Formats: sequence, C-alpha cells, structure tokens
Amino acid sequence: MNRSIVYNTFFLMIAVLIVSCADNAKNISVKDQQIVNDVHSFSNPYEVMVSHLDLDLKINFSEKKISGQASLKLNNKTNATQLILDTYHLTVHRITLDDETSTNFSLGEKKGFLGQPLKIDITPETKRVNIYYETSPNAPALQWLDHSQTTNGNKSYLFTQSQAILARSWIPCQDTPGVRMTYRALIKVRSDLMALMSAKNPTRKSSQGFYEFVMPQPIPSYLMALAVGEIDYRPMSPITAVYANSTIADAAAYEFGNTQEMIQAAEKLYGPYQWGEYDILVLPPSFPFGGMENPRLTFVTPTIIAGDRSLTNLIAHELAHSWSGNLVTNATWNDFWINEGFTTYIERRIMEELYGRAYEEMLAELGFQDLQEEVKELGENNPDTRLHLDLKGRNPDDGMTDVAYEKGALFLRMLEENVGREKWDAFLRTYFDEFSFQTMTSDRFVEYLTANLFNDNLQQVEELGIDKWIYGTGIPDNRPKVESEEFDKVEMQIENWVNETAARRLETNDWTTHHWIHFLRKLPDSLSQRQMAELDVAFNFTQSENSEILFAWLKLAIQNEYKRAYPALENFLRTVGRRKFLEPLYKELAKTPEGKEMALQIYREARDKYHSITYHTIDKILDWENYVSQLESTQSDTTLHNAGDLN
Ligand code: BES
Ligand code: ZN
Repeated sequence: MNRSIVYNTFFLMIAVLIVSCADNAKNISVKDQQIVNDVHSFSNPYEVMVSHLDLDLKINFSEKKISGQASLKLNNKTNATQLILDTYHLTVHRITLDDETSTNFSLGEKKGFLGQPLKIDITPETKRVNIYYETSPNAPALQWLDHSQTTNGNKSYLFTQSQAILARSWIPCQDTPGVRMTYRALIKVRSDLMALMSAKNPTRKSSQGFYEFVMPQPIPSYLMALAVGEIDYRPMSPITAVYANSTIADAAAYEFGNTQEMIQAAEKLYGPYQWGEYDILVLPPSFPFGGMENPRLTFVTPTIIAGDRSLTNLIAHELAHSWSGNLVTNATWNDFWINEGFTTYIERRIMEELYGRAYEEMLAELGFQDLQEEVKELGENNPDTRLHLDLKGRNPDDGMTDVAYEKGALFLRMLEENVGREKWDAFLRTYFDEFSFQTMTSDRFVEYLTANLFNDNLQQVEELGIDKWIYGTGIPDNRPKVESEEFDKVEMQIENWVNETAARRLETNDWTTHHWIHFLRKLPDSLSQRQMAELDVAFNFTQSENSEILFAWLKLAIQNEYKRAYPALENFLRTVGRRKFLEPLYKELAKTPEGKEMALQIYREARDKYHSITYHTIDKILDWENYVSQLESTQSDTTLHNAGDLN
C-alpha cells in the first residue's frame, strides 16, 4: 500500500479508515471506527475527523504558559465546511489552512468544565488546519511546580493530565475518546530540563532543550501527555525503563524491576504488546493519581515506591491499559468501565501469574471491600452504581467511582467463573484482536459477548443477568464469592488481640502489605487511646514508609482521635497530592468541628501545592469557597477597623 495515500470510505456513522502517518511512522489501520455521540465534546468528528497532529510548542515556566502551533490533518468524509474543536481557556492568535491561507474562526460561549467550541471555516479540500495558540496559566491539565513545591530534588516541573476531558486545556483537539490520531511533536524547553511524552522518548538530555517526539500508533486525545523536569533515565530491560529524578531513580528501578515479567504475563494472556517500549515516569508527589496509562510512558506517583515492590499491582494496572483502554477504548466516558473494569480484572490476572492465586485473592478481596464501601456511600439505587453511566450535564470526573473498577472487574470474574477460564481467556484474547485501535460501548460489548461467548444462547445471557450487571444499580445477587484464606488468618489475629493477646505477640511474621491493609481495615470501629498506642508501639504504623499502610493508619487515627499520629498526618497532607489518599482523610477530618478546623489550617497552605483535580475534590469536602468568603469578609472588617483607627 502506498504510504502517502489516505484512503477512506465512510458509511453514514461507520468509517473505515486507514491512517497514513506522517513521515517515517508506520501505518496502522483503524477499522470500523464507530463514532458515538459524546456529550462531553463540542467537536464534529462524524463530519470531519482529525487523523494526525503535529505540535510545535515552547514551554515557558516563568509565565506558566505553553505556546506555539498545533497542526491538524483532516479526514473530511462529508465535505464539511466547518471543523469544530474543543478548547478550554486557550488563547487563539490565528488559524491558517494548508499552506498558510488564513481562515475565519470563532470561539463559542464558555460552558463551564466543557470549555469552548472553536469553530473553524474549512473547505471540503482542506487537508490541514494550523492553529497558533497559547494556554492559560490556570489550564487544569497542567501542573507547574516551582522550586518550593517540588521535593525529591526537582527544581521546576511541568506535567500534564489529560484524562478525562482536560486535553482541550493544552491542545485544541477533538477531545473525545472516539477519535484517534497519530502525532509528532517538537518541544522546546529550558536547556537544564528534559521533556518526555506519551511517544517514543529520548534517553538523554538535549543540550539545547529541543526534543522531537513521534507517536506512530493512533491514540485518543486523553492519552496525550507531556512532562518536563530534571529527569534521569534507568533502563531495566530491552523494552522497559524508568524515568525519575536522580534522587529516587535507583530506588524506582528496583521497585519496578518486575515490569518485564508483567509484560510477558499479559502478552501470554492477551496477545502482543503493541506499543514498542513500556517506560515508567515517576512524578513529583503532587501527581493527583496513583497512575495514568499514557501510552509508552506510564505516569506514576512516587508513593508506590515502598522499597519491597509490594505496591506494584499499580504498574500491572497501568500496563493492562495497554490492552484495555489504549487498544480497545471506551467510546465515551459513560462506558468508563470498558476501560477500568477490564483493566482491574487484567491487573489481577497479571499479579496472579507473577505471585500466585493467594496474592490475587487478597487484591480481589480488598477491591470488593472498596466496592461495598462505594455502593454503601452512594446508595444501592443510585444510578452511579451502574456500569453504564449517564454523565450528561456533569463533569465526568464526578461520576467516575470505584464502581467502574470493581463492579466491572467483578462482572468479568463472574463471567470467567461461569464459562470456565479456558473459554473465557480465548474469548478475551479474540476481543482484543478484533477491536484493537477501536472504541467499545456497553451495548456493543453485550452484543459481542452474546454472539461469541454464549453462541447466541439468550437464555444463558438472561440467567446470568448480563443486562442487570451493566444497566442495573447495586451489586447483583449472582456475584462471585471473593475469599482469601490469607485474610482469614489476619482476622484470627485481630480476634486474638481483641481477646487480650498483646499486639506484639500476634503472629504477623510473614505478612505482606496487603495483610496489613486488611488488618487495619478490619480492626474494631472504635479503639481506645491505649489500644491505638499499643498497636503503634508494636507495629510502628505512624512511622510506616509504606504509603498504603500509613494512609489506612492515619484514617484510623482520625477516627479515634489518636493525636500522637497527627504530626505524621499533617506531614502526609502537606506532601502528598494523590487524591485517593487525601479525599478520605479530609472527609474523615471534616466530620468533627475540631477536625475540620485542623483540616482548613493545613489546607490553606497546602492547597496551592495540589493539582487542580485534587483541590476541586477537597474544596467541596471543606466547603472552601464559603471559608474563603468568610475569611475575606473578616479581613475586610479588620481593614475597615484599622482604617477607622487611623482616622
Ligand atoms: N486512568 C486511570 C486514572 C484516571 C481515571 C484519570 C479517570 C482520570 C480520570 C488510571 O489507570 C487509574 O485507574 N489509576 C488508579 C490506579 C489503581 C486503580 C491501581 C489510581 O490512580 O489510583
Ligand atoms: Zn485505570
């Protein structure tokens, strides 16, 4: 096939695309691309689709601004005369077509978290649209860290987080997971810093601060990613490497040393890894998530470096997205479980391959506890407990809960248990082959499942309650039993302790991180100061260097007002920005007036160091806006007062 020819056929809503990538990138075909209406995008891909992106950007730390050019290659299937893109607080200087013919454009009304549509006049013949623009200093996808905000030796740092709908705040694009594009980027940074992207990456710093990136596989906009900082490179195996600041690079390379084995385990189950390299970038502690599956370069929080590889299921998780999510992608955020439920299931299959069934069972049991908690908190009739969500009119971030992860994984486990592992594994493997580089919806999955796993045996589909699992609320009755013998042992030790065995005499010798997490979760609801202190002395929880154990302990400390752990709590809240930890801790503090006061004192100073994703969540918990307006009114009272005194 001739590389330079872009060949496409389009039948109403179904396009068959063969994307020809720029320059030396290899061709990847995108079959049966189905465009589903996405309530979180203004764009019009059903008329004209972006197939490739060329970026030429300058990173300006002093002004907290990215500026330059985004040039979009078009696939205009309907002779459309307008291209609509998503933007969020972008300043657009000018737009040209093809070889710099200028064109008219307009930015529509600002619509909250959705941002603004950018409407550009094109002609049916237009092949390229070139947008000259810059980002706003408050772009929610970007976190700019200066010297005072970084730890682990970093000076300046910038990283992006595009999922779910934040890509539009740093790149004008069709910001919907149904559109895939290849990309190439020229990035100019300060010469003491290194730049990395979700693409083929450099292994050394460029002396002039110029970097070129190529991403030959087509990806949706939410996987666009960039990081800039003082970053070292540590290869681990021919296709895996760690990027991190020099102060933690060696520790990180040890921690993630089993990544190659994980890839082999995943390939054995679901077919070849399709992205070339698999590297891991360790971000500063303000990174709002545990991990983000940016293709070829997973982003992770430094809080998973525990020293003993005990939190690496997170790597298995992000790696699993290389199949579920990055190859077969949720068509819209309503089908988020298609990404996360499958990934959580696969994460555990990978861990089982590496560490055995008992290990997997501990992870599954902890996950099931999370699901029960979540469903209890939401209420079992809450529409957000459905796998197929309805996020219309809402920020997708607000409807993304543990349900997608854990109910999704439980559903797949139920299917596995009913048809048997052999048949199920074969089914999944074909699923990934068949739908790679395409999108998936719940409806389409049910259809495919019915035909290919159940051979159209509708009675079986009915009996297993497939529709109830996906479109119904709560946890269905035919849920598989998740049990862990290891955790039975833990519960026995708790019982002994409650029955007066001294904490230091409990049998905990061979416990892993997961045993300890279960232990902390299953302790009696209310503990005396004496009991808390006894546990602390015996197991040194307040000093724990394992973030998951420390987090579970700090939550308990707040619940039982165990003040000896409060300095550690304060330190944790001030240094870690991972939302999964901060949200429950602030929530717990906010339950009492005294706790809320303490939370606000810390938050006043820490808020600036958190990523916008994190502080949006914590703002709501602490009623921040209200607090600020009260603060302002008391301040202006004092100002008035002072002014009065002066007169
Ligand atoms: N893709 C998610 C992170 C995400 C979800 C970002 C929704 C924005 C919107 C990532 O793969 C993830 O699930 N991370 C988890 C890891 C955990 C489940 C092992 C996290 O960050 O806690
Ligand atoms: Zn995930």
